[in-house]
Amino acid sequence: MYLARHFPPAVEARIAERYDIVRNVSGEILSAEQLAAEATGCAYLFVSATETVSRLVFEQLAGTLEAVATLAVGYDRIDLEQARLRGVAVFNSPGVLSEACAEMGLLLLLNASRRGHEADTLVRSGNWTGWAPTQLLGLGLVGKRLGILGMGRIGQEVAARARGFGLKIHYHNRSRLPEKEELNATYHDTPESLLAVSDIFMICAPGTRELAGFLDHRRIALLPPRAIVINISRGDTVVDEALIAALQSKRLFAAGLDVFANEPSVDPRYFKLPNVFLTPHIASATEETRDAMGFILLDALEAHERGTIPANRLC
Ligand code: DGY
Repeated sequence: MYLARHFPPAVEARIAERYDIVRNVSGEILSAEQLAAEATGCAYLFVSATETVSRLVFEQLAGTLEAVATLAVGYDRIDLEQARLRGVAVFNSPGVLSEACAEMGLLLLLNASRRGHEADTLVRSGNWTGWAPTQLLGLGLVGKRLGILGMGRIGQEVAARARGFGLKIHYHNRSRLPEKEELNATYHDTPESLLAVSDIFMICAPGTRELAGFLDHRRIALLPPRAIVINISRGDTVVDEALIAALQSKRLFAAGLDVFANEPSVDPRYFKLPNVFLTPHIASATEETRDAMGFILLDALEAHERGTIPANRLC
């Protein structure tokens, strides 16, 4: 098995019990070319959200590669068509990270609405002169409308937590949830209709080609004035140019972003904006979750070896 990154110790220990390991010693992100060269002769690739498992990788590992397991719910960097063509099984790690990702969505939401970046900066600067009646006023959440784009497992966990803050839940999803699971959330049959009522707009949908460039100038203009945008999906769902302009002009009150279009590079104009709260793609980064993500993949590989098809097999 080829380990493309450094994985949590408990996950690596379990891998070592069952497989011979070849590894990316540096632990740094590999290009597809490097991955293909380093994993020559391996039957399994254990990768993550950062590796591009492209046609080239499948071509170069043809003959030995049997399965790819990715420590991620997203699989936008894996060429599933190639995997299918070549009979390579692909597994991801859904479900076990939904709660952690939802916590992150709320963390971004709270920091964006309550000016978390500015507050932290003020205290650290040593320039804080003390409590003041009009200092760093944010926007309250009670009674506001949270529009969730993508009401899958993560979106539903976000909704469950957001209700506790007094937010009213609106959503758009490819298909409407059964009434029982909606829990009084309001369904919108188009993203545009959702945008129009979203005091806070959170992107929870999986990153797909269709969603790339979704939040552009036109769609930002549909949001209510001084809305807040949160992104825990994939960076390319947002057009940076459009979001930055709307934050600069205060058309939007704030944004909270955990994902970026060309990670790890981030548009430097965000750094100058006080009204954006930035985190480095850490939505699933809790000790418990990363272990669980690894274990669900190892369970899947073991099931695959026994000839059964686990629920997290993508192809
Ligand atoms: C995923 O799971 O797709 C995230 O981006 C990493 O947790």
